[in-house]
Amino acid sequence: MVQTKDIKISVEVFDSLEELSESDKGICLAASTALENSHSPYSEFKVGSAIKLSSGKVVLGSNQENVAFPSGLCAERVALFHAGAYYPNDQIDSIAITAFTSKFLISSPVTPCGSCLQVIAEYEKKQGAEISILLYCLNGQIWKGKGIRTFLPFAFFEERLK
Ligand code: THU
Repeated sequence: MVQTKDIKISVEVFDSLEELSESDKGICLAASTALENSHSPYSEFKVGSAIKLSSGKVVLGSNQENVAFPSGLCAERVALFHAGAYYPNDQIDSIAITAFTSKFLISSPVTPCGSCLQVIAEYEKKQGAEISILLYCLNGQIWKGKGIRTFLPFAFFEERLK
């Protein structure tokens, strides 16, 4: 008989921004503002992200595409690397992500790609504290996960090298 390992993952689900704390609402709105600077002529899929630092500072990111496809970068990593480069000693409390396209209605929260999740995992490890992840659907729900393990339960961590 094959054994299975079941892992329970929970996200908090909110039906509107009004149900969020002021801080969480603020970065969700900031992420939707960040969308405006998306450079996405190839996918026409705009992604915005906003990071709240422990100092209160908010850092924005948006997807930046390139005609040579792999040279572009996702919104989350644009914001995360900005935070890492400009505010290396400031803790990342939370990150919000949202998306928009004029091609169809996005009716559920967009989840970050595997590379962005891995980068969030790296910053959690660096700061020794979890990062809240808010997935904000402009026309639907907001999902909140506390810590990268919510979305990347089998993340590779440095301890495995020892
Ligand atoms: N994209 C992001 O910015 N974040 C994600 O987590 C997933 C995808 C961008 C990359 C590309 O510019 C567009 O969305 C379509 O894949």
